[in-house]
This record gives sequence, C-alpha cells and structure tokens, in this order.
Amino acid sequence: MKMNLNELKERCQNCTKCGLCEGRTNVVFGYGKEDADIMLIGEGPGENEDLQGMPFVGRSGQLLDKFLAAVDLSREKNVYIANMVKCRPPKNRDPKPEEQEICINWLREQFKVIRPKIVVCVGRISAQKLINPSFKVTQEHGQFIDKNGTLFMGTYHPAAILRNPNNKEAAFQDWLALREKIKELGIEI
Ligand code: URA
Repeated sequence: MKMNLNELKERCQNCTKCGLCEGRTNVVFGYGKEDADIMLIGEGPGENEDLQGMPFVGRSGQLLDKFLAAVDLSREKNVYIANMVKCRPPKNRDPKPEEQEICINWLREQFKVIRPKIVVCVGRISAQKLINPSFKVTQEHGQFIDKNGTLFMGTYHPAAILRNPNNKEAAFQDWLALREKIKELGIEI
C-alpha cells in the first residue's frame, strides 16, 4: 500500500534508526506540495529548523526563498523541500555518511510519493550523495544530469553564499537555468 506524505511523516517522527535522534527537538521531515514537480534537497536541519520542525527557516532559508521567488517558485505553491538527514547534527556538523545512508530511506519514500521531475541538490552534501560522490559545487553547479528519467542539478548552499557573497550571482544563474529547464520541458508550475 502506497502511503501519503502525512502517513510517512508520522512514521518518521518516531524514527530512532541513528544517533541523531538523541539530540533532536523535532524531526524535520520536509515541507511543500505533495504533487510538486520540483524537489529541493538540503543537508540537514540547523538550530531554527530543529526548533520549528520545518526545513530552511533560518537565514539560509530566507535567501533560498528569495531565489525561489525570483523564478516563480515557492514551497507554498510548487516546490517540495527536504533534507538528506531529518534530524539536526550536533553543532551543525556535516551529517556522517552512515547517518545519510540510514536516513536516505525516508527520502526514497518521499521521492516515491512526490515523483519530482527535477531535483535540486542544495549544497555539496546532497549533490555528492544523490548525483556523484566527487561532485564539486564550484565546477559542476547548474548542470542537469538525467538519472532514470529524473533531472538532478546541484547548486550552492545558501549558507555558503552568506559566508561568501561572491558566489551569489553564480547561484542565481543556477536558479535561472532551473526556470529555463522548467519551460523547456513544458512543466506547468
Ligand atoms: N540548511 C540545510 O541544509 N537545511 C535546512 O533545512 C536548513 C539549513
């Protein structure tokens, strides 16, 4: 029986499959439209996300929402946002490979329900896990790769742009390229 996102979310709230569950306030399952053609995958919850149970609600999230709005996308209308890991890593460290490997099963279930046409990997962690283990954001950002009929693209993480605003224009070009790809494929958003 295929589950809907709410049923999956309820099961995920009780997950204790890795040690990250010990430090969490909330599971950050994901947010957005269940029928979205565009799915964004970040790294993992930070402090604000952990407290609110929502992805990308801190400073990074505000910048992400601005990029989305600039290309007629939003989590309220036509995008679904999730992370590689659903629980906050301590002190915002990178999620460990084994944590990602365990948590990716939840993401696979989300993919099955949402069936996105385009997946944007927001930052190195998800790009390396979902596109290519040696993915280099500075060299490969903005390129679309077909994986079994779904297009994957990696771009700069907004936190990296906040640290180094020189990357903002390059990142913006990636979001414009996404808009073009949506048009090219005739995806109705
Ligand atoms: N950074 C991420 O990668 N994901 C979030 O949800 C918040 C910050």
